Amino acid sequence: MSEKTLVLVKPDGVRRGLVGQILSRFEAKGFTIEAMKLQTVDKQLADQHYAEHVEKGWYPELREFITSGPLVALILSGDEAITVVRGIVGATDGRKAAPGTVRGDFSLSNQENLIHASDSPESAAREIALWFPEL
Ligand code: PPS
Repeated sequence: MSEKTLVLVKPDGVRRGLVGQILSRFEAKGFTIEAMKLQTVDKQLADQHYAEHVEKGWYPELREFITSGPLVALILSGDEAITVVRGIVGATDGRKAAPGTVRGDFSLSNQENLIHASDSPESAAREIALWFPEL
């Protein structure tokens, strides 16, 4: 079943010049880029996006990071996009993510892990509305 999912190439991915390499994996797999923009996030949007994490001890550091420079926000569509994209992205902690995944190949961190991808249909709907209210 075709689905849409929200993906962020986080500020570390933009700083490191990995946007093209990362997006090419999704395109090669067969997903369609439905919308995409470069955006610098303010604290309010960060708090809304990470609403379920704002009380965690590590959240202030994550907020500092996610607002530290431009990121690329995009909507991908395709068959079982939510689950399949999460598989391409890999486990949260780049040190534990499997080789062959984006995080497994390019990250050594659970914060600077290059990508965010929606984890459920409910998250995808919420995040797409948050990041692309104009659609
Ligand atoms: S948790 O703990 O299971 O709720 O975390 P998880 O769902 O795997 O991760 C949610 C996002 O929080 C980031 N994260 C962290 N940032 C900084 N420090 C620590 N310790 C940390 N742990 C998790 C992680 O990168 C996830 O970001 P997104 O953008 O959702 O992938």
